[in-house]
Amino acid sequence: MDFTKKMLRDDALAGKTIVVTGGGSGLGKSMTKYFLELGANVAISSRNLEKLQNTASELENETGGKCLPVQCDVRNYDEVEQMLNLVLDEFGEVDVLLNNAAGNFISPTERLSANAFDTIIDIVLKGSKNCTLAFGKHWIDKKTINTSILNIVTTYAWTGSAYVVPSATAKAGVLAMTRSLAVEWAKYGIRCNAIAPGPFPTKGAWDRLLPGDLKDKFDLAKKVPLKRVGDHQELANLAAYLVSDFSAYLNGEVITIDGGEWLKGAGQFNLLEAIPEELWDQLEAMIKAKKRG
Ligand code: HXC
Ligand code: NAP
Repeated sequence: MDFTKKMLRDDALAGKTIVVTGGGSGLGKSMTKYFLELGANVAISSRNLEKLQNTASELENETGGKCLPVQCDVRNYDEVEQMLNLVLDEFGEVDVLLNNAAGNFISPTERLSANAFDTIIDIVLKGSKNCTLAFGKHWIDKKTINTSILNIVTTYAWTGSAYVVPSATAKAGVLAMTRSLAVEWAKYGIRCNAIAPGPFPTKGAWDRLLPGDLKDKFDLAKKVPLKRVGDHQELANLAAYLVSDFSAYLNGEVITIDGGEWLKGAGQFNLLEAIPEELWDQLEAMIKAKKRG
């Protein structure tokens, strides 16, 4: 048994309908595949219908599950409502919203146009807000029980990060929304949680965050205490647990899955890892000598 293996029992999501925004590629696709394997119906949405259709038929063939592709730009509330209605027409009800769609690129902030900054805020924060509001209103109106929202954020939602400032600003807002609604909407049976992934290689992220030879210059695995990047199945295992009934008492939580990456950057003396083992005797003697003096 290892971290690339599937964690939950086969029927863990049977009877659930899950909407995954940005489900046609990357981590959204990997999570969708596992949800289908666990018996859920899944609707995947993004701007590119052809990509969604290809992904849906590929995953249906691989898993035998039901995957509905729905074109929807999450920046537009009308499109989000149309997506919700299509999902309800197809599956009758929806149980889980997974806000995974995102936009991001590296840039010094002073180089950004106002529109460039808005574009990221609109996809990440406004898009997550649009979906959350439409689904939440529906669930509250229909008194649907046992529903949940899972938001994909990042560890820099709380640390902030240079060179991805619009993304950091937007993800911080999504995290605040997660924690706020976990309390406010609990009375309607809606749970809200988040996952903060560390580096998980995807084409979408790597093309925009590590373009050209930056991938070789900045090996992200080196920033991780466990010395590796994440495996998609590890994230899918965590997401499946969080949208399943096994996590029914988990609400308002953000779970970091990054091999210890952000804490390595944060701890003031973590850089002492560079000190070779044999030097510690000498350092200890120097410190103790100071104490006596
Ligand atoms: C500066 C840029 C830019 C860049 C775009 N713009 N790229 N400015 N540097 N590299 C500006 C444009 O000039 C324009 O402003 C504005 O941004 C909008 O650009 P469009 O191309 O018109 O936008 P759109 O077609 O909506 O595309 C959105 C996008 C694109 C975000 C720019 O990259 C995209 O579709 N991304 C979706 C997928 C994605 O980003 N995945 C990565 C998620 S990774 P002007 O003023 O010229 O009109 C992630 C992980 C984080 O979040 C953590 C990893 C460890
Ligand atoms: P990705 O493949 O680029 O996923 C982003 C998805 O969002 C795409 O499928 C894209 O599809 C969709 N999208 C973008 N704009 C949209 C819009 N306006 N409306 C609807 N859909 C839109 O990248 P990823 O790495 O898998 O990222 C998935 C999530 O993980 C994101 O929330 C990201 O912030 C988060 N994350 C990733 C990492 C990592 O290391 N990969 C680390 C931390 C957090 P279309 O282009 O077809 O619209």
